Amino acid sequence: MDSTSTTDSVEKPPEQELRDELAESLIELGAARSARVIAAFRNVRRHLATPDADLVSTYGAEVATITKTDERGVQISSVSAPRVQAMQMEQADLAPGMSVLEIGSGGPNAALLSEVVGDTGHVVTVDIDSEVTDRASAFLKETGYRNVTVVTADAEGGVPDHAPFDRIVVTVQAADIPPAWLDQLKEGGRLVVPLRMRGMTRTVAFVRDGDRLVSDGFELCGFVPMQGVGENRVRLAVLHDVEGEQVALRLDGHPEPDTEALAKALSMPRSTRWSGVTLGGSESNEHLDLWLTTALDNLPLLAAMPGARSRGLVASVSPLGIPTLVDGGSFAYRTVRATDQEDRYELGAIGHGPRGQQLAERLVEEIQVWDREHRSDRARIEVYPAGAPDDRLPADGRRIERRHSRVSITWP
Ligand SMILES: C[S@@+](CC[C@H](N)C(=O)[O-])C[C@H]1O[C@@H](n2cnc3c(N)ncnc32)[C@H](O)[C@@H]1O
Repeated sequence: MDSTSTTDSVEKPPEQELRDELAESLIELGAARSARVIAAFRNVRRHLATPDADLVSTYGAEVATITKTDERGVQISSVSAPRVQAMQMEQADLAPGMSVLEIGSGGPNAALLSEVVGDTGHVVTVDIDSEVTDRASAFLKETGYRNVTVVTADAEGGVPDHAPFDRIVVTVQAADIPPAWLDQLKEGGRLVVPLRMRGMTRTVAFVRDGDRLVSDGFELCGFVPMQGVGENRVRLAVLHDVEGEQVALRLDGHPEPDTEALAKALSMPRSTRWSGVTLGGSESNEHLDLWLTTALDNLPLLAAMPGARSRGLVASVSPLGIPTLVDGGSFAYRTVRATDQEDRYELGAIGHGPRGQQLAERLVEEIQVWDREHRSDRARIEVYPAGAPDDRLPADGRRIERRHSRVSITWP
């Protein structure tokens, strides 16, 4: 481990200031809270993992350093942003002496985990891509983390040779929970995973309870997609495709849409409905959107390029996608407008197509239900094995069926 940075008596490396500033930003953002996580960020020389990247930006709290992009331009490997790494480490509730499996390598995150579990703990990091594991191994060797084992494999099967683990931290987007992850997690252990549920990804902290997983909080996040046996990408239904202005629906187990009719609807006049429900500028939609996907059956996400907004084709864009209620050849998506209160925005819906107005009203109704009944609630997410009978799952809420698991989202 990098002991040179832990005492004042030893000369500080030049980037120490950047690491200290990063630790302070993570504290301010509320991402790093425990002393060991904060200390880890002060110690790990993360810039050595990405020597081609700009030194200062590698210590930016929100900066993910992209290390690989596939032939279609999809980012498939990166060193995650420090804020996201800190958030997942806090979710994992790590302690010295623990055995941790990191799924998706890079180097810096394994080093951070190693700092927290200490010399009596052990970290195993697995990646499907040998280019990534070669780089991670070189970085961990150079920085002196000896309690980390680097494995090249498809993490669908976990890493049985080193199981069981106290914690499993997944750093790649997963649409399903393969049985090996549960089997290789100790009873009461925590699995932190960016789980995609009907297109919406949240990094969920799960606790193992027998053969099921029960959530203990989640956070909004974006991660590169899973490769290998568990690959399960969202599908795009393209409604408009002019360079820089693409508008599409992201489908994740949603019914096949009538793309032609929806494309026609997009070019028809819109109906706008407002809810009277407002959000502060720094409040995110993460809980509202999870409520909408729980309450409404056919709610894919609208993915539009900023150019589509500037041309007036759509009123809202977000890289995470915008919940969109679809029915036949009509749709309505969530939107916001400024209010006369500074930094407060009113939620509403914009409908297109023959039933656009009714769909906008329906979406607004659920926004109001969320505000009235669930604004201060948090969803409970549970994962059961695929073969679990219906009567084992909570009766209310939303069920998401995957190959290996049945995911349930319920609200108090
Ligand atoms: C965001 S990066 C990991 C970043 C790393 N945890 C860090 O910040 O230091 C995600 C990684 O997951 C890997 N990955 C994707 N699918 C995988 C699979 N099925 N098994 C193992 N690794 C996989 C990718 O190759 C990629 O390197």
